Amino acid sequence: MRHFISVNQLEADEMYQIIRKANELRDRPNQLNRQLFAGNLFFEPSTRTKMSFTVAERKLGVEVLDFHIEASSLAKGESLYDTAKTFEAIGANFLVIRHPSDQWISELEQEGKLNIPVINAGSGKEEHPTQCMLDLLTMYQEFGSIKGLKVVIAGDIKHSRVARSNAKALTKLGAKIIFSAAPGFEDRSLEYPYLTMDEAIEEADVLMLLRIQHERHLHKAETSDYLSLYGLTKERYKKLQDHAIIMHPAPINRGVEIDTSLVESEKSRIFIQMDNGVYVRMAIIMHVLSEWGIIHENNLIKRN
Ligand code: CP
Repeated sequence: MRHFISVNQLEADEMYQIIRKANELRDRPNQLNRQLFAGNLFFEPSTRTKMSFTVAERKLGVEVLDFHIEASSLAKGESLYDTAKTFEAIGANFLVIRHPSDQWISELEQEGKLNIPVINAGSGKEEHPTQCMLDLLTMYQEFGSIKGLKVVIAGDIKHSRVARSNAKALTKLGAKIIFSAAPGFEDRSLEYPYLTMDEAIEEADVLMLLRIQHERHLHKAETSDYLSLYGLTKERYKKLQDHAIIMHPAPINRGVEIDTSLVESEKSRIFIQMDNGVYVRMAIIMHVLSEWGIIHENNLIKRN
């Protein structure tokens, strides 16, 4: 493996290996027994991904290099590649990058050779592999297996990297994907069936709601009727199967894709997803560092 950029890089057994490792790290937190440095470079806003990477790194004993785009030499026109090479030169052992471009990793690779691994923390509308892995962990904890699950992905599919990463990974693991989207939010280049929200809700083992990605729209979408037409209302919630769960990568547009009273309802796993994000990111960091030969399993020391 080179950089951790896409869920396509992972075979099904590697996905389960990361999921199981995340569960193990939750129960038995370990720290690495050598000093390592991480650079978290976020070119788009983030709360969950950035902070859970920071917690994951600190739990592993990794030193997090403090970096703010606006106070860095990026403001003087330095490129992403030269910034990444600078981190490499001063001793960063890996980078975590979020960027609005779909292509940043290929642009980075065209400019030269980076000798430290990069973990993708969200690229444009194409990939959010660490979000996808925490989503898989959440489903695995709930159902024990992903195979055969019916997962309804509902919302702004056209602009969603979460939808793309999850659809690819879930298909590889044997789940059935159903899309549900308001007119204009579909992406027919992805070959999955579409149902209306009323049809989809009764099929779902997992209802994965997506945020309207206003920041990726040319014109701000009108949302006054969105909840009643396409969102999870209290009436639709009652039609979910008994065992069904609700997921959402967050941030949430409360009262748009989901009635605000349902965000912390019995079926909601939204805050469990966030908690899982810490452990899955610990497992991914270890997986990548181990693939690069930077750590070995015996680099771990048990914490008291
Ligand atoms: N789910 C997610 O990526 O959230 P943030 O944008 O807050 O990181």
